[in-house]
Amino acid sequence: MTLLALSRVAVGWPGQESVLSDVTFSLARGARVGVVGPNGSGKTSLFHTIAGILAPQDGTVCLSGQLLRKGQFLPEVALVFQQADDQLFCPTLGEDVAFGARNLGLSEQEVALRVANALHACGLTGLEGRPVYQLSGGEKRRACIAGALVMQPSLLLLDEPSAALDLRSRRRLINLLAGMDQAMLIASHDLELVLELCARVIVLDEGRICADGPTRDVLGDAALMAAHGQEVPHSLTPHDTARHKHRQQTRR
Ligand SMILES: Nc1ncnc2c1ncn2[C@@H]1O[C@H](COP(=O)(O)OP(=O)(O)O)[C@@H](O)[C@H]1O
Ligand SMILES: [Mg+2]
Repeated sequence: MTLLALSRVAVGWPGQESVLSDVTFSLARGARVGVVGPNGSGKTSLFHTIAGILAPQDGTVCLSGQLLRKGQFLPEVALVFQQADDQLFCPTLGEDVAFGARNLGLSEQEVALRVANALHACGLTGLEGRPVYQLSGGEKRRACIAGALVMQPSLLLLDEPSAALDLRSRRRLINLLAGMDQAMLIASHDLELVLELCARVIVLDEGRICADGPTRDVLGDAALMAAHGQEVPHSLTPHDTARHKHRQQTRR
């Protein structure tokens, strides 16, 4: 069943020419789709449009068959910002995660239940009282996701979720996202992450969709990737198995 449908969408920031043109794609409920492309290709602008922050200059965005209107607040769509510090603004983690749920006008009892569930899902239980500036990079990223989950969205827009995370935090994030059943659009330069999490990928360049298809086919297409400033990820690069044999590490 279609959750999100964009048809011939054009987008521009105030006082600028279009940064996205003729963007058409749809997303099924529960599907995870990667969005890759060079810096400035329009990934963040696309997410701001779907989140209702930026109005399309042309075309339509429909969510569950309903036409999105400018400035409309949609709890069904949750944007997780690229910079965690742009998103977290309350004094403590608990208050920050509660913010979205309180905004929905829920009872304090329901807010508390949703906050506890979101913190638990993101492995942050027990840190409720911690000032947000005292969280690590990985905790901040998961705090942003928890703040999105409290609204029980059906679509998560994750903007560069693994940026600046160390390997352990990145792995924890991948496991967290892999276990969630919400539909997701994941904008990332981390092509291995996209490969692990998304069966489908969209390539954006200069504000247009250049490819949309199965992740392994698209990211494995060396000519396509090179044409859009990308490289085939290591795990899709053909290896000469005889020469690429990794030696077993021995303990000293
Ligand atoms: N807040 C903003 N105000 C004005 N222009 C912006 C803003 N954010 C992005 N842009 C412009 O939109 C274009 C696409 O950028 P962006 O959507 O951030 O791409 P990406 O996320 O793929 O790096 C760029 O030319 C950028 O300068
Ligand atoms: Mg961006």
